[in-house]
Amino acid sequence: MSTPQAGILLPLPPLARYLAFSLAPDSDVGAGLAALQGVVDGERTVAGIGLPPLTALGKKVAGLKPFPPLSGPGVELPSTPFALWLWLRGDDRGELLHRARRIEQALTPVFELEESWDAFKHDGGRDLSGYEDGTENPKDDAAVAAAIAADGSSFVAVQRWLHDFTRFEAMQPEERDDCIGRRRSDNEELDDAPASAHVKRTAQESFSPEAFVVRRSMPWSEGRDAGLMFVAFGHSLDAFQAQMRRMVGLEDGIVDALFRFTRPLSGAYFWCPPMQDGKLALAPFSL
Ligand code: HEM
Repeated sequence: MSTPQAGILLPLPPLARYLAFSLAPDSDVGAGLAALQGVVDGERTVAGIGLPPLTALGKKVAGLKPFPPLSGPGVELPSTPFALWLWLRGDDRGELLHRARRIEQALTPVFELEESWDAFKHDGGRDLSGYEDGTENPKDDAAVAAAIAADGSSFVAVQRWLHDFTRFEAMQPEERDDCIGRRRSDNEELDDAPASAHVKRTAQESFSPEAFVVRRSMPWSEGRDAGLMFVAFGHSLDAFQAQMRRMVGLEDGIVDALFRFTRPLSGAYFWCPPMQDGKLALAPFSL
């Protein structure tokens, strides 16, 4: 029986490391995927596969598509495709580093490591802006319904957002609350939030069809730069894409107020295969 990668539905770990790989030209994709099966357990290491390995072998996964380079008034979303995305979940930064090294070695020369980002849980699950993140995530059966397809697979949208803390700190507390649509002090939703408030842009029940996703984002930092590694799992990519289109103003010209202090530097979609007998089930590749 196929089951979802367990890490998708578990609570956030204290620490994480995200790895993004490209596909080496003319490489043995089948051998790379077999090596991937040897290093991914679905729980401590969650895997998402991008279009390049499928395209290289002339295969398809229904529902996996390129990340659209959307733009709206004054905002641009980059599309930065990768062949493979790994979310290493853990609680020891050194162990994560060594696990990442082992994985990189196992996947070479087929998958080439392009990016690696350290992430962490902050203040019980807050974004670095101080706002609680994940409050309206569906839970239990609703989380499974939102994130997992009938065959146990999932899709994930990943965007690395860079915060501008100087701009954020220059705002009055009321303006910050209006950006999110919730009060930082007690996480209460604001009745009179402006239409640009993030939670108004993304209110999952306000879409038709309703657009539920399971967000598993974590703050990241590297030197003086920091922000949110936004990660949203869905049984398809449609809910995320509907939310994103409204955030950039493509529905009504109103841009999400989040963009006043943060912007995405990357954007990519991946297919997260199910597990079978403790191993990634790569049916489209006959593996
Ligand atoms: C730096 C980027 C982002 C930050 C700091 C951020 C932060 C937040 C915060 C603080 C909340 C309110 C609490 C909660 O329900 O989790 C929230 C809600 C939400 N966010 Fe974001 N978010 C970001 C990007 C995004 C993106 C790119 C999307 C999807 C395209 C998104 C989708 C959602 C959804 C669906 C909700 C719940 C809305 C509801 O149903 O009430 N967020 N976010």
